[in-house]
Amino acid sequence: MFALRRVIPIVTALFAAAMTVSTSNDATVAFPGPPDLTLASWMWNNNTLNTGFPAGSSAFRLTFHPSIEFPVANISVAISTDNAYSLYFNGTLIGNALDWTKPNVWTINNVPSTGPWVFAILATNYFDASLNPAGIIASFRASNAALQAFYIWYTGQIAIPSVVWKAMFPVPDGFANPTFDDSAWPPAVLEAPYGGGPWGNLATPVPASLCI
Ligand SMILES: *[C@@H]1O[C@H](CO)[C@@H](O)[C@H](O)[C@H]1NC(C)=O
Ligand SMILES: *[C@@H]1O[C@H](CO)[C@@H](O)[C@H](O)[C@H]1NC(C)=O
Ligand SMILES: *[C@@H]1O[C@H](CO)[C@@H](O)[C@H](O)[C@H]1NC(C)=O
Repeated sequence: MFALRRVIPIVTALFAAAMTVSTSNDATVAFPGPPDLTLASWMWNNNTLNTGFPAGSSAFRLTFHPSIEFPVANISVAISTDNAYSLYFNGTLIGNALDWTKPNVWTINNVPSTGPWVFAILATNYFDASLNPAGIIASFRASNAALQAFYIWYTGQIAIPSVVWKAMFPVPDGFANPTFDDSAWPPAVLEAPYGGGPWGNLATPVPASLCI
């Protein structure tokens, strides 16, 4: 079921809406709406098995160094995980969910663009009688409305080689701490682009916020 592909880091791009940016369809990139998942890919840990993954939890981390293009940014994360996730930003729990058919968008406002942004995900594959699919798909947008500037990046695509999702199991203590050392972690493994694998197309991600 999973033809595991070469591990590729994420797509990162900084756009300014005032500027015409050449894309695959040569359109001008407008200041973006909420992030969507259609350009992202599913990923999991390196426990590569042909028919699925064992039940259990894995830790995922991404450290992103924004270039200082805006003083603060609002970050939005669209995400779905088969089966359950908790999403952390710099050690703070941002959101969690356990139905991959209902992706959410989580928003983190007024983030200083100095210093690294550290995203961490605790993801759990539920028990099934057999090995079963497991994956995370996510898309990120960091924007400044006043400056009409934004970054967009996705699980599974290009372009800054040093920016890569890493995945580890079993889950190490303190893995969501921004200063946790993940240098020995292997990269996450790509499974399928959006629409592929056993998941198919997903519902439009729905804005959500934690009730705590
Ligand atoms: C996965 O990563 C771990 C930790 O680096 C390593 O020990 C293991 O051999 C890797 N497994 C595969 C299938 O590559
Ligand atoms: C995130 O954590 C890193 C490491 O502790 C820190 O350098 C950075 O300033 C933090 N960023 C934000 C936006 O809190
Ligand atoms: C973040 O979002 C809030 C609420 O929509 C908005 O008022 C604010 O201008 C945004 N900040 C940035 C940096 O875009």
